[in-house]
Amino acid sequence: MKTLETERLLLRQWRAGDETDVYDYASGNRVGPMAGWKPHESIEETRALLSRFREEDETWAIELKETGKVIGSLGLHARKRPNFPLPYDRELGYVLSEKYWGRGLMPEAAAAALAFAFGERNARAVIVSYFPFNLRSKRVIEKLGFRPLFRLPENWLRYDGALLDEIVCILTRRDFFGTVSGKLSP
Ligand SMILES: CC(C)(COP(=O)(O)OP(=O)(O)OC[C@H]1O[C@@H](n2cnc3c(N)ncnc32)[C@H](O)[C@@H]1OP(=O)(O)O)[C@@H](O)C(=O)NCCC(=O)NCCS
Repeated sequence: MKTLETERLLLRQWRAGDETDVYDYASGNRVGPMAGWKPHESIEETRALLSRFREEDETWAIELKETGKVIGSLGLHARKRPNFPLPYDRELGYVLSEKYWGRGLMPEAAAAALAFAFGERNARAVIVSYFPFNLRSKRVIEKLGFRPLFRLPENWLRYDGALLDEIVCILTRRDFFGTVSGKLSP
């Protein structure tokens, strides 16, 4: 997995020991549920997740350069949604420790991952989805230049029984080279 560097962040492969930082945010009740998953109840659960991430090789650890701490994760997932009406190559997903929200860190991380997907992996398009109440993620997605495609009603049965709508957005290669990549250039 290639390490990606931004002004404040490293997107890197997971290492033994990262579970302590990840458990710190994944056990809180405002991070996982916004992305559809249950807060972690034990550090073993976190360790198992990180070993899956390592095997799949498509999710980076987000490290804050200033402190060396892992503060989130970002995935460019290759697994496709069945019968999706448009061609795409990757689905973006991300979470950030609540302590670091509101500093533009996820847009910075995601812009680097998208530059990698379109620039080095020649992706045609990347999709992303969010729950309608997740206005922070909606804003990140807008800032990255994604376009809303459609709303999938009751498409996600969350661990707590909530049946949630998903709003699916797309960023095409052409969109990207006209938007985010321009902002990345000096
Ligand atoms: C979504 C998430 C990654 C955002 O990361 P971040 O680095 O804090 O993003 P930003 O710093 O760009 O801040 C988010 C934007 O939302 C805005 N925002 C904050 N609170 C808001 C609210 N209650 N309603 C609407 N917008 C809000 C901020 O003002 C900012 O926009 P701006 O730059 O135009 O001012 C982070 O909140 C997170 O990890 N949430 C939990 C997990 C999650 O939702 N994952 C995504 C699943 S789709």
